[in-house]
Amino acid sequence: MIVLNGVLLFLIFCTTVNAYQVNLTCDSPIVWGAPSNCSVTVYNDDNVPDDGKFGYNWVNDFIPHDSREVNTGPSTDSWLVTYNTSINLPGLYVTRLDVCVWEFLGIYCKPLGSVGITIKITDTLNGKLISSQSDKERDKFISSEDPLQSSVELKESDKNFLSKAPTVLSYWFVDCIYYGITSDLQFDYNFTKPDEQHVIEALVVADFTPLPPPTTTTTTQKPTTSPNVTTTTSTTTTHKPKPTNGTTIIPKTSVKSTVRHKREILTSPAPTLVGTNNSSTIRIWQNGTLVPYNGTFPYVCNSTFVVTDHKKVYGYFSKTVTTKAPITKVNVSGTNWLKHEQLLNLNVKCSGSGQLKYCLKFIPGIYNVTGNETCETYDDLNECNFNIERYFHGAEKHTVLIIIKNDVSIKVTSVTVTVYKVKQQAQLSVIVVPVVFSLVAIVTVIFGVAYYLQNRSRIIVEVANFDFGKQYSDMEYKTFKDRLKDSIANAFSQPSTSSESQDWSSGHKYGSMT
Ligand SMILES: *[C@@H]1O[C@H](CO)[C@@H](O)[C@H](O)[C@H]1NC(C)=O
Ligand SMILES: *[C@@H]1O[C@H](CO)[C@@H](O)[C@H](O)[C@H]1NC(C)=O
Ligand SMILES: *[C@@H]1O[C@H](CO)[C@@H](O)[C@H](O)[C@H]1NC(C)=O
Ligand SMILES: *[C@@H]1O[C@H](CO)[C@@H](O)[C@H](O)[C@H]1NC(C)=O
Ligand SMILES: *[C@@H]1O[C@H](CO)[C@@H](O)[C@H](O)[C@H]1NC(C)=O
Ligand SMILES: *[C@@H]1O[C@H](CO)[C@@H](O)[C@H](O)[C@H]1NC(C)=O
Ligand SMILES: *[C@@H]1O[C@H](CO)[C@@H](O)[C@H](O)[C@H]1NC(C)=O
Ligand SMILES: *[C@@H]1O[C@H](CO)[C@@H](O)[C@H](O)[C@H]1NC(C)=O
Ligand SMILES: *[C@@H]1O[C@H](CO)[C@@H](O)[C@H](O)[C@H]1NC(C)=O
Ligand SMILES: *[C@@H]1O[C@H](CO)[C@@H](O)[C@H](O)[C@H]1NC(C)=O
Ligand SMILES: *[C@@H]1O[C@H](CO)[C@@H](O)[C@H](O)[C@H]1NC(C)=O
Ligand SMILES: *[C@@H]1O[C@H](CO)[C@@H](O)[C@H](O)[C@H]1NC(C)=O
Repeated sequence: MIVLNGVLLFLIFCTTVNAYQVNLTCDSPIVWGAPSNCSVTVYNDDNVPDDGKFGYNWVNDFIPHDSREVNTGPSTDSWLVTYNTSINLPGLYVTRLDVCVWEFLGIYCKPLGSVGITIKITDTLNGKLISSQSDKERDKFISSEDPLQSSVELKESDKNFLSKAPTVLSYWFVDCIYYGITSDLQFDYNFTKPDEQHVIEALVVADFTPLPPPTTTTTTQKPTTSPNVTTTTSTTTTHKPKPTNGTTIIPKTSVKSTVRHKREILTSPAPTLVGTNNSSTIRIWQNGTLVPYNGTFPYVCNSTFVVTDHKKVYGYFSKTVTTKAPITKVNVSGTNWLKHEQLLNLNVKCSGSGQLKYCLKFIPGIYNVTGNETCETYDDLNECNFNIERYFHGAEKHTVLIIIKNDVSIKVTSVTVTVYKVKQQAQLSVIVVPVVFSLVAIVTVIFGVAYYLQNRSRIIVEVANFDFGKQYSDMEYKTFKDRLKDSIANAFSQPSTSSESQDWSSGHKYGSMT
């Protein structure tokens, strides 16, 4: 009874606890001809690959149908889906997978369900054209000052596929002008004029025809077509394409293959064209002039040519870019020595293509610019001429960071502002007023003294004749007559008391001289 219960519990545990999740992925989209690697992983409740045993049943709808059966396997399985390119054209195909898990100690494979996935087979290579300047990826806008490096970045699965091709070459075009071949999927070009739109196009051609065994013949292979771009004379000389002014083309594949391939691309398109109008819009620089290119490329420059060469895989990538002048000549004017409480007033001017944006940062103290400062929000600038106004409080030195950017550049300019503390203006008035008044007082005193001295010299002259200076210096002034009278009076009233003289003196006061 107890044992039965235990078995029952065990069964319940097995069937209820284990909820699985089947994760099926395939390489898609993938270029026509390349096998698609499909893989599956069975996850358990904890989102980790389960360590049980599983059965897999794969099937796809390519013609003819293909299948793969795995009776007992771990929680992951993969299937490299291949197809016959003679029958299966580019399009959508489905791969289905039935998964079961072995339960009851390996007696029964319990179905977990069926999952399907669509594989997209594309007629051209999958990837993208990437442009970069100074190791920075550029999307729509490129700087007119820096060299531009363009490269084709292929999807990993397509790249793996191409690694089996003996030759992979890329043909480069700017504005429908052919600039030559490279073998490393990279192309350098310098756009020099700002505010222009250009189309960069790359045609990647991978040839899967095996290279002929290395024959030692040194036959000179002269391209039959006229473009000087691909002129090569011999298989032994180093290949040096001279496409135009402006580009360096660096084929790295063996000379032989390059030549062979080049000849093919230049001569072969004609018979493989479908619904052709051979009047190509592709041109080429020759002797400093643009001349129509005598040859055709599929896809390039809105070409409608369809290539049906089974031995080759094509990739077409294009990108429209707009050139912009980076921000230069940031000119800041205004005074950066401020009196306390004085308003900072700076004017900033610069040049560069729009849309210009700017932001400001005020940092107390001195700040060393690293160049990678950014702001979270920017203000638009219609023209690069704006003012900065700001009051500063506190610290003596401040750094104003002026960050101006457009689509291709960012410029960080710093201005160190020094706020110097003179005595505050309120104190100034407190000081100035008394000082002024003191000065006025001093001047008044000086004038007074001068006036006094001047007048005194007059008095002295007047009294010098009588030499009363000492005796009567502290007395009221009396005229000579009066004093004579007094002297006579004194002489006749000899025994007079001091009180009498006081009475006298009090009774004979003289008015003030001034
Ligand atoms: C399934 O695979 C895809 C692609 O590898 C992955 O993004 C996803 O997280 C996986 N799901 C789980 C549940 O692991
Ligand atoms: C397919 O993908 C799986 C998982 O990514 C990997 O383990 C396996 O080696 C791949 N198979 C091939 C043929 O590349
Ligand atoms: C692909 O299909 C063609 C036409 O049916 C056939 O002749 C050829 O043998 C097939 N190739 C392979 C690899 O099965
Ligand atoms: C190719 O360029 C060479 C010099 O580089 C010149 O002599 C020759 O005439 C040119 N040929 C053509 C067809 O342009
Ligand atoms: C582009 O300009 C740089 C210098 O600015 C120069 O070194 C380089 O050779 C130029 N590249 C091309 C393809 O003209
Ligand atoms: C090609 O197109 C041009 C005009 O674009 C036309 O004049 C010419 O006849 C066409 N040629 C062919 C072969 O269709
Ligand atoms: C290019 O110019 C050179 C001399 O400058 C001349 O010999 C050659 O014939 C010209 N080629 C073409 C195709 O005009
Ligand atoms: C090539 O040189 C010619 C003059 O020699 C000039 O007009 C043209 O702009 C140049 N093209 C490039 C892409 O530099
Ligand atoms: C263009 O090439 C063809 C052969 O592919 C040749 O017949 C024709 O004369 C060439 N045209 C010019 C202008 O070189
Ligand atoms: C191709 O044509 C489209 C519109 O028809 C145009 O916008 C595009 O610029 C053309 N591409 C090239 C490389 O001329
Ligand atoms: C800024 O750099 C100078 C030397 O380049 C250094 O002396 C100074 O300490 C730095 N200031 C700050 C705040 O990092
Ligand atoms: C800016 O660059 C400096 C070095 O130049 C680095 O230390 C710092 O982390 C960078 N800051 C940001 C936000 O990238």
